[in-house]
Amino acid sequence: MIPRQIVDEIVYRNDIEQVIGSYVTLKRAGSNYNGLCPFHSERTPSFTVFPSTHSFYCFGCGAGGDAISFMMRIENLEYVDAVRVLAQRIGVDIPEEDEQNGGASSVTRKRVLQMNLEAAKFFRDQLMNETYGKEALHYLTVERGLSMATVRRFGLGYSPNNAWLLTNHLRSLGFTDDEMVTGFLCGRSQKTGRLYDYFRNRVIFPIIDTAGNVVAFGGRVMDDSKPKYLNTSDTPAFKKSRHLFALNYAKNNAAEQMLLCEGYMDVIALHAAGFENAVATLGTAITPEQARIFAKYTKKVVITYDSDSAGQTASDKAMRLLGEVGVDVRVLKLEGAKDPDEFIKKFGADAFRDMLRDSKSGFAYRVDKVLMGHDISVPEEKIKASSAICAIIAASSSAVEREVHIAYAAERLGLTPQVLAGDVSRIRSKMRREQKKKLSNDAQMQLKGLNDHVNRDAAKHIKASAAEEAVLGLMLVFEQLRHVAAEGLDGLSAEDFSTEFGRRVFQTLCELEKSDGGYSKALLAQFFTVDELGRLEQIEQTRRSYSKNDIEVLRVNIANLKEEKGRDTRDVMSILELKRQKANQMKQKKNEK
Ligand code: CTP
Ligand code: MN
Repeated sequence: MIPRQIVDEIVYRNDIEQVIGSYVTLKRAGSNYNGLCPFHSERTPSFTVFPSTHSFYCFGCGAGGDAISFMMRIENLEYVDAVRVLAQRIGVDIPEEDEQNGGASSVTRKRVLQMNLEAAKFFRDQLMNETYGKEALHYLTVERGLSMATVRRFGLGYSPNNAWLLTNHLRSLGFTDDEMVTGFLCGRSQKTGRLYDYFRNRVIFPIIDTAGNVVAFGGRVMDDSKPKYLNTSDTPAFKKSRHLFALNYAKNNAAEQMLLCEGYMDVIALHAAGFENAVATLGTAITPEQARIFAKYTKKVVITYDSDSAGQTASDKAMRLLGEVGVDVRVLKLEGAKDPDEFIKKFGADAFRDMLRDSKSGFAYRVDKVLMGHDISVPEEKIKASSAICAIIAASSSAVEREVHIAYAAERLGLTPQVLAGDVSRIRSKMRREQKKKLSNDAQMQLKGLNDHVNRDAAKHIKASAAEEAVLGLMLVFEQLRHVAAEGLDGLSAEDFSTEFGRRVFQTLCELEKSDGGYSKALLAQFFTVDELGRLEQIEQTRRSYSKNDIEVLRVNIANLKEEKGRDTRDVMSILELKRQKANQMKQKKNEK
């Protein structure tokens, strides 16, 4: 744990408007600042920074908290790392030794990284070993055609077909069983409790982060046996949704564009052929966190997935996620080879470069996909294709973009731009109408707590959760009220809370209040997810604007909370909901007549 005085000081000395200002363009609005929310896409600012309370809140998506939660959310950091980054900003040094990884295990990130480095050296030595590594080296250099330089550059290795070699080696270096199992290098036998090497008889691909740490490994069999790959699961040093294979090299060649492929071997073949901006996700579809990594390093991503249908389906998701973070996305459809590795082997680097130049924008790719599914020499088919394409164009929010797309589509369909433009604007007005309706439905759902992902019990206990929020809000804003509530004012205790979320917040506030240094907002981010932190911020902001430091208000809400404890308000709500629907139906019938 980082000592709390240090955490407090770090939050206090970092101007939140400056921290956030380096990610979001902020405009002054009275004593606060407004900007476009970096956590959801919007055109009118609903993101507000409150310097006086060192906090931020987005009225659009509910993101909120202090500088620590902002850094956690925007950079996908753990609490400790977010604090560390903020500490660096103001030149405070936090000693590495204090690093702990919040979870149940006491194995630290630092130890796992040390162990991974030793394991990587061990795997490499085995590969280079005349006797043990012969077959694996033959596989990599002859069967897969890699040069020795490439093998070395990627630190490739080999895990021998022996269940204890690595385990014994790591043990001799002083690593504990707990560390080896938590670090995912060893498994533990259910029967005997003995440890054994996790990777056996596989060629090893180390995964190295941008700071040069070996964070994980992938291991491939050298024949057709299954599973083809084994990968490190999440450890204190690794979350696979947050890393990209070969980013350590690609980041230095990423300014213009990056290539996203499916496999380790694709990336290695591409780098060897001179495309040193290639990366791959780690055996999973691309995640929003990974999309954000791309946005951090580059302007443009070319998706070069496998040409099979799985690869093409995955392209759609990648296009969407990368589009959402604002990078220009292109898609390359390989012809004549199943993946980039095979393509380069068959046709060479220059042919790949040509393909890259011809890669299509996400839009053109989607249009072509529609055209492939319809024979537009048949009128009916042409109409269908045209309306599908207009729907794609209508989804774009930029008028310039729409005009450019309409011109392209008109040419492909053999129709005039004017006709398409008419259809597109009809679709857009319909979309706007639906959007409006959806927004008001959403707002109603929200009001009733029916759509609450943070506090899932709120829908069941609408009245109780309102009282809970009032009590918690008062505790968050007013020191004195927090103190008396934590001391059990009017017999208040965690059992009085109907929702799991409310109870958990109350318990945490009480524990912090009674801890040595007392409560500090800067400590909350250790206990809650970023979505939960957003909700806490909202609860706090609401109280700040409506309530005074008045113990009577607290008492009334405690009484309500106890009174409503456990009462299921769903039935009442569903009756109201039914009544409302009936009324609407009547209205519609009237209109139709
Ligand atoms: N993968 C995995 N587990 C599997 C299969 C695949 O984790 N059982 C991941 C690996 O990261 C792999 C990627 O998905 O690199 C792509 O899979 P695939 O195309 O099957 O493998 P390649 O990397 O192309 O391997 P190769 O060319 O050696 O067959
Ligand atoms: Mn492949």
